[in-house]
Amino acid sequence: MSILVTGGAGYIGSHMVWALLDRGEDIVVVDNLSTGFRWAVPDSVPFVEGDFGDEPLMDELIETHKVTAIIHFAAKIVVPESVSDPLGYYLNNTSKARNLIACAVRRGVKHFIFSSTAAVYGEPKRTPVHEDDPTQPINPYGRSKLMVEQMLADTAHAHDLRYVALRYFNVAGADPKGRTGQSTPNATHLIKVAVQAALGHRKGMDVFGTDYPTPDGSCVRDYIHVSDLVAAHADALRYLRQGGQPLTCNVGYARGYSVFDVIEVVKRVSGVNFPVKISARRAGDPAIIVADNERAREQLGWIWQHDDLETIVRQALEWEQRLHNRQTALI
Ligand code: UFG
Repeated sequence: MSILVTGGAGYIGSHMVWALLDRGEDIVVVDNLSTGFRWAVPDSVPFVEGDFGDEPLMDELIETHKVTAIIHFAAKIVVPESVSDPLGYYLNNTSKARNLIACAVRRGVKHFIFSSTAAVYGEPKRTPVHEDDPTQPINPYGRSKLMVEQMLADTAHAHDLRYVALRYFNVAGADPKGRTGQSTPNATHLIKVAVQAALGHRKGMDVFGTDYPTPDGSCVRDYIHVSDLVAAHADALRYLRQGGQPLTCNVGYARGYSVFDVIEVVKRVSGVNFPVKISARRAGDPAIIVADNERAREQLGWIWQHDDLETIVRQALEWEQRLHNRQTALI
């Protein structure tokens, strides 16, 4: 009996793998290494380099490893890239997810945990946003994920498959034990970019848009520590194993920080006053998005431990430095 983790060599997936290992679970990872790293998966974990949308490969893997649950992380995740390459997003995030769900149904895998996103809400009508609020994504990324939520709902209705779709807010930080972190080169996410600027790995950074209807004009997001996000998956797994019915949950802290707030914390924690340029709005960005997290707390029993932006930033800084040292050593 094992858990199939797709995208287990990636940022969030590798944190999940370590957490499952810490809990003594049997795991098998599939990752095509397009953005993930082989070294991010512990040596003791069976690793298959391949595509989660490859049905014969997934069929075989589910059989060989007696997979009873799938945690599906593998996806393209950059909002502006989804605007310029929508078909790439619909192929990778939507069509291939359909293949994976078909394998799960065919092979009798009954538990499925899906990495969804706050981007399904688009520009929320209220803050914090509740799971039952309208889903009107404003970019292809959000639409590519919302369609998978809908597929899962229809599939669970027709077949013996139960799922939890977790709508992630803005995931940041690194493993407190320093085993893994956000390692993607050319990352576009705010905390990663700011941390790289603080460490001098890039010359400075841009603030994309200061004319939003927010207190300081920059976008507001709910930044959640990756370890707390991973804990929500472990809770979701327990929930499904105990017979829980299909569920869609926000995973965020229910509080927001602006882009300027984040930059101020990165400057304070790092002690570096790096250059910041005001730029035009970026395509596809909603102004404010903050989670109502009552459902995750009540239904999954989710309790978080790392709700502190300074800690998130400090660990992101430490990881970025470690990554840099590692890359320098490899040259
Ligand atoms: N930003 C900057 N400068 C940068 C990078 C980002 O100003 O160099 C701004 C963005 O414009 C945005 C905010 O920082 O206003 C956060 O941007 P990120 O790229 O870090 O994250 P997104 O909000 O675009 O997207 C993330 C995840 C999605 C998730 C979404 C939910 O990638 O999966 O958060 O809010 F859906």
